[in-house]
Amino acid sequence: MINRAKALQCLDEHLKTDHLLKHSYAVEVVMRALAKKVEPEKEEEWAMAGLLHDLDADLIDYKNGDNHLHGPKTVEILKEVALGNEEIYHAICAHNEATGTKIESKMDRAIYAADPITGFITAITLVYPDKKISSVKVKSITKRMKEIRFAAGADRKAMASIEKLGIAFPEFAELSLNAMQGIAEELGL
Ligand SMILES: [Fe+2]
Repeated sequence: MINRAKALQCLDEHLKTDHLLKHSYAVEVVMRALAKKVEPEKEEEWAMAGLLHDLDADLIDYKNGDNHLHGPKTVEILKEVALGNEEIYHAICAHNEATGTKIESKMDRAIYAADPITGFITAITLVYPDKKISSVKVKSITKRMKEIRFAAGADRKAMASIEKLGIAFPEFAELSLNAMQGIAEELGL
């Protein structure tokens, strides 16, 4: 089932870390914008996969080597509350390479690239003098993409792989920036 209100309630119950919540909202809007271009009939599914992909992030014992459970644990929770569908579950698992779930669908491909670009754009925003996302230019994103030491944790290969959906990286950068600017207040940027 696709129900954004229920998804937000579920997120509120399980994900407590503020920056992860903001990250979830950011990936949701980027996924929604990508869906409009690639698979408009599945916009709600793509948005929901983005919103919920890190639902279990506060529940996983990463220090104990449980990284591979990040994704499958979310699916377990979503099944319990009857939220989502198999394609959403697959995309949520595929966004974490440690699960061994292969990228197959367009939705899988989109979330793999949308996940890192949100953190990347946030990092770029924070080096602007006013720290406002409304000031960020697309050119900064394409330039920083080549500076591998800047926000080194943002996976360049994953972000660049959006081209496999027929979207050039500058277009992806613009679409993601516009989407995040649209919810600047919620993101605190
Ligand atoms: Fe994420």
